[in-house]
Amino acid sequence: MTPAGLTAKRGGPLRGRVRAPGDKSISHRSLILGALAEGTTEIEGLLEGDDVLRTADAMRAFGAEVAQLGDGRWRVVGQGEFKEPSGVVDCGNAGTGVRLIMGAAAGFDLAATFTGDASLRGRPMNRVMKPLREMGALFLGRSGGRLPLTLKGGGLRRIEYRLPEPSAQVKSAVLLAGLHADRGARVIEPEPTRDHTERMLRAFGAVVQVHEVAGGRQIELPGGQRLAGTRIRVPGDPSSAAFPLVAAIVTPGSEVTVEGVLLNPLRIGLFDTLKEMGADLVIENVRDEGGEPVGDVTARHSALRGVDVPPARAPSMIDEYPILAVAAAFADGPTHMRGIGEMRVKESDRIALMAAGLSACGIGVEEEPEGLIVVGSARGNHPAAGGARVVTHGDHRIAMSHLVMGFAAEGAISVDEPGMIATSFPGFVEMMRGLGGDLG
Ligand code: S3P
Repeated sequence: MTPAGLTAKRGGPLRGRVRAPGDKSISHRSLILGALAEGTTEIEGLLEGDDVLRTADAMRAFGAEVAQLGDGRWRVVGQGEFKEPSGVVDCGNAGTGVRLIMGAAAGFDLAATFTGDASLRGRPMNRVMKPLREMGALFLGRSGGRLPLTLKGGGLRRIEYRLPEPSAQVKSAVLLAGLHADRGARVIEPEPTRDHTERMLRAFGAVVQVHEVAGGRQIELPGGQRLAGTRIRVPGDPSSAAFPLVAAIVTPGSEVTVEGVLLNPLRIGLFDTLKEMGADLVIENVRDEGGEPVGDVTARHSALRGVDVPPARAPSMIDEYPILAVAAAFADGPTHMRGIGEMRVKESDRIALMAAGLSACGIGVEEEPEGLIVVGSARGNHPAAGGARVVTHGDHRIAMSHLVMGFAAEGAISVDEPGMIATSFPGFVEMMRGLGGDLG
């Protein structure tokens, strides 16, 4: 049952060791690549959040055998091709799911109709339709490139595509389509974005060449390749680990360790930024797990100072600006986050909702078209006021960010639609309570 609201209150310190749930990006890709491959893929540590479960259902609809074997343990048996689904493919709240699946499906001679929840139906799909059309796919959709839309795939030709926006989803959609395009695909990204698709394609036996060239990073996927099923261990999601870690940093007396966190350099801009702000954040026991660096991250309550976060860092922490804004609310001085226009086309307009939520909690904020300035409350040692009910527009990260703030603010903070937290972090409430958070 979805509670009508959820409230976080200031209490004692947060303490303990926890494991972050499986990485959302890698979980989607494990299922999609497993379905595209021939043979069996065994997955351990899959994120069992709503977004990923929708992708599992979609892969069944496209003809793969997908079975849950145990807690986080899944098996995908792929046929080396997608079949035409007999019904509408509903990706729920998941932009990653729908965009990557569209790319994967475009390579086959089939028609598929995609939809999603109200948030996903409002998000731009033109960014993937444009390159896929250039490759030869056909789309019929709503005005503005919105879902629902129907794809007719097959007969794709090679593309050389320079990403107009720094988006790993668009890059991945083109690469997955390129698997079944005549002579493959080349993507050039002016700013590096998360490279899980490239790494995982290799784990499934594909050749992917990556070169730094003038004007960016060039990813070359030769055509005519077949994927073979493999074993995948999904590391902990740094985007989810961010919530208990920032909760510890802003709540007096706290110390929290999150084990097994993915430390891919293209995902850890938040950790770099928190350190620059003066956070006591220690990364230990760094190891390699399935081709990705992983480690244990410990955060302790810290005095923070405001910083300038450069636009170049945005792709490496694009999902973490909401929780960074909360850390910034407790800092001494302003934090200026620049070059984050992409935040406006996420599950919600995250710049607008963070500005509204923090301002309702008594924090000084200034919204810019592509930026956000948060004026920390630490000067004079006044904790953030809090005492607000925050509207989340069903956005899981907006909800979790404000609840984290509630653990350290003077007044309780409530969020609406807490059920949406399960899209990316089904165990959030239990984990935060287990660490000592007052959440009810
Ligand atoms: C993701 C890429 C990012 C990110 C999303 C996951 C991915 O989106 O915000 O949560 O798994 O490729 P964009 O590619 O739109 O930046």
